[in-house]
Amino acid sequence: MNVLKLDISKAGIEISPRMQAEAQAANALLHSKQGAGNDFLGWVNLPSSITADDLAAVTAQAAALKARAEVIVCIGIGGSYLGAKAVLEAMSDSFKLLHKKQNEPIVLFAGQNISEDYTAELLDAVKEYSLAAIVISKSGTTTEPAIAFRLVKAELERRYGKQGAAERIVAVTDKARGALKTLATQEGYPTFVIPDDVGGRFSVLTPVGLLPLAAAGVDVEALVRGAQDMEKATAEGVPFEENPSALYAAARNLLYRSGKKIEILGSYEPKLQYVNEWWKQLYGESEGKDGKGIFPASVTLTADLHSMGQYIQDGERTLFETVISVAAPAHEVKIESDAENLDGLNYLAGKRISEVNRMAELGVQLAHVDGGVPNIRIELPRIDAYTVGALLYFFEKACGISGYLLGVNPFDQPGVEAYKKNMFALLEKPGYEEATKAIRERL
Ligand code: PA5
Repeated sequence: MNVLKLDISKAGIEISPRMQAEAQAANALLHSKQGAGNDFLGWVNLPSSITADDLAAVTAQAAALKARAEVIVCIGIGGSYLGAKAVLEAMSDSFKLLHKKQNEPIVLFAGQNISEDYTAELLDAVKEYSLAAIVISKSGTTTEPAIAFRLVKAELERRYGKQGAAERIVAVTDKARGALKTLATQEGYPTFVIPDDVGGRFSVLTPVGLLPLAAAGVDVEALVRGAQDMEKATAEGVPFEENPSALYAAARNLLYRSGKKIEILGSYEPKLQYVNEWWKQLYGESEGKDGKGIFPASVTLTADLHSMGQYIQDGERTLFETVISVAAPAHEVKIESDAENLDGLNYLAGKRISEVNRMAELGVQLAHVDGGVPNIRIELPRIDAYTVGALLYFFEKACGISGYLLGVNPFDQPGVEAYKKNMFALLEKPGYEEATKAIRERL
């Protein structure tokens, strides 16, 4: 039985046989590799292609880093960052950093912004800890992680010497190309390869995600097993109604075609906040092109009901909502009785907090549906490495199907180059002389 259930009973749509056939055809296209962007379909069968040796190599390297460092700085951006961040947050105790005893190294992230303050504060914070780094860039030339890595590498070399630093740096990059690959070869860093046919936003189950997660103590074997089971559950030939990815892709495209242009992904578990961020990149970069695409937004609930709730309930009716609903929390906390009951909460005494959370979720769902916001629910039994692995692959497969239903190439991102050209021109990067002149005139 599938670990993840999709409920579209409150989405207000009927998926016609024609739409079902379209979704099935889109899924088949991902498997036959005959569709747009077919050079980047390595993720489709990635989970089942991960061998015990692959996992052993990742965990051995993670163990080597753990043995040397209390803090590991993981450097990357976009697809080379969000997957590891999302899974790590989902798997971690929310207050892990306050625990006096840390059983695993603390994994911090850098290179996902160009903030001088963030960088300075990070370099300051790690001063008293033994340090290692995982630097991740498929192209090997991305500006943000390159800047962060230059600084972290210098810090490691100051502390441990060139040789010592080389024992504490692992590079995850292209097998042959790019500045990072050249540097890693020259300095003798251990490296892991990002396959050519796996784009950044689909790379969480390659060493891009697996290495930092293993270093942080996440059970990557269970993560991959969850993804493998979901690969089977969404394979070509699985009937439409049994394939949650096909169902989700069809539902969201029907909603889009009926004028719902914005999808809000929400969850009542704050640990899933970065799963939302990962999802936003996956869907935004894959579908937002050629003047088309559902705009992916996100909320963390119930917190955002007190900020975005008004708009969702009552604003422009171009929204639909997808909720990741988690059945069982990992902990048990009951609301206590209070003799004075000044807060009036004694009617909840003895109830678990999760029961209140569940009633909030059900109440919100009906209120939003009544307010014209269709609701899709993704049900997970619990949050653990296995279920999160399944969730990641579920979303990836649905994204591929959905992009084809929308009629775009879900595996390119031509739009992300425009800002880079301007930034390089403004920074007077060699080779951009003409562009520098032109952009100055426009300022
Ligand atoms: O999904 C993508 O392709 C992007 O988000 C990239 O992952 C991101 O730009 C980082 O690229 P790179 O890994 O080449 O440094």
